[in-house]
Amino acid sequence: MAISKSMAQALNVQFNEELNSAYLYESMAADFYAKNLPGFAVWMTMQAGEERTHAEKIHRYLDGHGERVFYGALAEPQATWKSPLEAMNDALGHEKHISSCIHKLVREARKADDIATESFLAWFVDEQVEEEASAQSLIDKLEMVGDNKFGLYQLDKEVSVRRQQDA
Ligand code: FEO
Repeated sequence: MAISKSMAQALNVQFNEELNSAYLYESMAADFYAKNLPGFAVWMTMQAGEERTHAEKIHRYLDGHGERVFYGALAEPQATWKSPLEAMNDALGHEKHISSCIHKLVREARKADDIATESFLAWFVDEQVEEEASAQSLIDKLEMVGDNKFGLYQLDKEVSVRRQQDA
């Protein structure tokens, strides 16, 4: 069954949101590399990769329904953050924004009685719960470490290994 033009457009907006998320996380990774936090940088680089797979899923879904994606302009991301905690708080805030975009799409699909799109979006709803939880868990650890430089050094090593094991 075809999806409506307005649903296709709304999904296209989300496609660009996901690419913007990747761009923001690449910028955070660059800042972490510049500040000698390679573990956090790896974490963010992998997160950016996940965002591109989210965009890809939307691309394929639209393709499968005879629609195409359109690439919008990428917003210039923030370049530096005062601390890893500030960056992770921004990442969590961004994920909350993405969750609300996804929930809005689900409501739109329900309103249009578009069961296929609602089902497609269920994966994203679950993914957002995980993404918010993993950002929150890093925030909790960073708060625990506080100003302790050795603690930050240890945590940096830990997040890189953890993330690569989870991938
Ligand atoms: Fe694709 Fe992190 O939302």
